[in-house]
Amino acid sequence: MRTIAVVNQKGGCGKTTVSINLASALAEMGKKVLLVDMDPQSHCAVGLAVPEEQIEQSIYDVLISKSRNEPIRLTEILWQISDKLELSPASIDLSAFEQQMAGFADRENCLKSVIDEVHGDYDYVIVDCPPAVGLLTFNALRAASDVIVPVETGYFALHGLSKQLETLSILCKRCRQEVDVRVLASMYDIRTKMAREILAELRNHFSDRMYGTIVNFNTKIKEAASFGQPINEYDPASKGQKDFEALAREVIGWEASQQQREIVNSLADQLESISTTADDLLKVTKPEREAPRAPAEMEEVDEEPVLAGTDEKLSDYYGVSLIQDAIVFVTLYPRAQDVQIAGDFNNWQPAENPMQRVGESGVWQTQMKLPRGLYRYRLVVDGQWQQDPYNEWTELNPYGDLNSVVEVK
Ligand SMILES: Nc1ncnc2c1ncn2[C@@H]1O[C@H](COP(=O)(O)OP(=O)(O)OP(=O)(O)O)[C@@H](O)[C@H]1O
Ligand SMILES: [Mg+2]
Repeated sequence: MRTIAVVNQKGGCGKTTVSINLASALAEMGKKVLLVDMDPQSHCAVGLAVPEEQIEQSIYDVLISKSRNEPIRLTEILWQISDKLELSPASIDLSAFEQQMAGFADRENCLKSVIDEVHGDYDYVIVDCPPAVGLLTFNALRAASDVIVPVETGYFALHGLSKQLETLSILCKRCRQEVDVRVLASMYDIRTKMAREILAELRNHFSDRMYGTIVNFNTKIKEAASFGQPINEYDPASKGQKDFEALAREVIGWEASQQQREIVNSLADQLESISTTADDLLKVTKPEREAPRAPAEMEEVDEEPVLAGTDEKLSDYYGVSLIQDAIVFVTLYPRAQDVQIAGDFNNWQPAENPMQRVGESGVWQTQMKLPRGLYRYRLVVDGQWQQDPYNEWTELNPYGDLNSVVEVK
């Protein structure tokens, strides 16, 4: 059995789409597949037409039962999607997982022990992760034999990639684990020059750390999700379906070649090496930058994810910066209802500093005047605590999670 975690802290890069459609393609090839949704947004249920209001228990209940004395078995919460595919749904409760497990020593291994119990029942377990590196993603990494990092082929996606791999590397240094990490080019739009250049660079740099298969941008994939179907059911003749079929074949084939070569690498080592590669890559593809604008002007920003030009402009604004005499925090969460910030400066009370949504672009910002000093903080996105994905300066906190750090000089 292989457990494949689909990880990228950047939102909207195609994690759920890859998870659902790879799972479904593997099932169609006769493999027994379990899809585990670890994202409190529970998009796997939405994408597979599982009625959310009917989900009484989710993976949250199973995981949390590990810390209590009333075990709930994974089989009690599963939904059958097709002959060979089952879904372990998520629920919004998952956003409280990190806090709930704060005092529990083995909290990083909850998912691993749940999956170990069904070892032998499945050929593949696919784990869809939330767009944040916190305890949920770390549980997925600990359980994984393989990690797929879907990467949108836009400049800004590369920017995120480098930071994200560094973060994962820090997290994984603590545990030596045999796992295969590879990058997957997703939402590739061959019509844009930037996408073509970036794909060429990705291939050049990552070579065998990258899937040969590319998931193209295909509107049928989007449509399939809105109808609650995997692409192989919605439109078996589509280009999107061909891509996922090829990816499934590559995943199966890689297993065979892996066994022959008997490669054993630790997760931390691999992440470190591909993170360095991502940094080099970023230098190669770095576009000319415009003079910075004030954050208020961002209301005009275009939302379209595949437009490289937009990415270039936005990359200047995310994270923290000092503008005039205030610290400005800017981040991107297109689907969030509520983004708050908690840190040393407000006694870790997120309600005191809600971030403001900037137009319809999915950008959130807030600013505050702070005396000189070093401040640690985390973002609270729809109740889920996470590090600022656009601030590279992080620090491990006593709970084993990462705080973001900013200095006012
Ligand atoms: N190859 C593709 N072609 C067309 N649309 C795509 C493709 N991949 C993803 N999408 C669309 O892009 C959007 C974001 O994709 P998805 O939900 O899979 O990303 P995600 O990384 O799981 O997001 P989040 O971080 O919020 O969980 C969705 O509307 C999805 O239908
Ligand atoms: Mg998702």
